Amino acid sequence: MDLGIRGRQALLSGASRGLGKACALALAQEGVDVTIVARTRETLEKTAAEIAAATGVKVTTVVGDITTTEGRSAAVAACPAPDILLNNADGPKPGDFRDWSRDDWIAALDAMMLAPIEMMRLTVDGMLSRGFGRIINIVSRSVKIPQHELGLSNGARSGLVGFAGGLARQTVGRNVTINNLLPGIFDSDAQREHIRGMLEATGKSFDEIWRERAAANPARRYGRPAELGAYCAFLCSEHAGFITGQNLLVDGGSYPGTY
Ligand SMILES: NC(=O)c1ccc[n+]([C@@H]2O[C@H](COP(=O)([O-])OP(=O)(O)OC[C@H]3O[C@@H](n4cnc5c(N)ncnc54)[C@H](OP(=O)(O)O)[C@@H]3O)[C@@H](O)[C@H]2O)c1
Repeated sequence: MDLGIRGRQALLSGASRGLGKACALALAQEGVDVTIVARTRETLEKTAAEIAAATGVKVTTVVGDITTTEGRSAAVAACPAPDILLNNADGPKPGDFRDWSRDDWIAALDAMMLAPIEMMRLTVDGMLSRGFGRIINIVSRSVKIPQHELGLSNGARSGLVGFAGGLARQTVGRNVTINNLLPGIFDSDAQREHIRGMLEATGKSFDEIWRERAAANPARRYGRPAELGAYCAFLCSEHAGFITGQNLLVDGGSYPGTY
């Protein structure tokens, strides 16, 4: 299928590794020029070179923290008129809500709710005036299946999907869609970090928890980032203009409900 987005411009944060990188590569494979943002120059430049070599598209890098005003300004300066926006960054640390201060909550809201909303504010009007836009937020299954150790994510990300659902209905009439991808367990650095955070509380080894989590998934495995990347590219395609305001699980069937 030709996704019909060759020559479009995409701005992707959190795109030097893992799920964000997979989305950038999948879009680049469709001929989309990509601007990728992350905090660590070395991995970012390596990823940019990899994507450019594999696809031949123009790849621009921005070293910056997307949760800060400076990071967002640099991202938008490098890609002022994106057709596609992917919002992605780190997830939260696991823990007990009794230990979280107001500052912890504000930081979580900044990272998982307010930064993506601000990126939408900075880019959506241009998309509306050009008559094409695709916005994807990488969120988490935690908005549908609360994870007891990830209260900061359960809370802050629910704020983002609530907001996005309302905005999505206001923009789709001008061919600007907004959807949220809800990953389950994926084979990525963040997944490894999450498991490392569980070692003390469970008393189990890393390998034990890694295997148990895969075995507990109906697919009996972790998701591959490229699988989420391909879904993202389709949602950003010209064919996906009638899909908006959706919270789309990519989780190997781990969400237990019918609806
Ligand atoms: N993997 C899973 O199983 C899973 C499941 C559910 C939800 N999620 C969520 O999905 C998101 C992506 O996960 P992942 O597994 O792809 O993570 P990952 O492999 O750790 O990659 C995260 C990417 O985001 C960049 N990044 C992080 N914070 C940033 C910031 N403040 N500003 C700019 N770039 C930033 C990282 O580069 P730098 O560190 O160099 O900035 C890296 O490129 C996370 O929010 C995670 O919580 C993941």
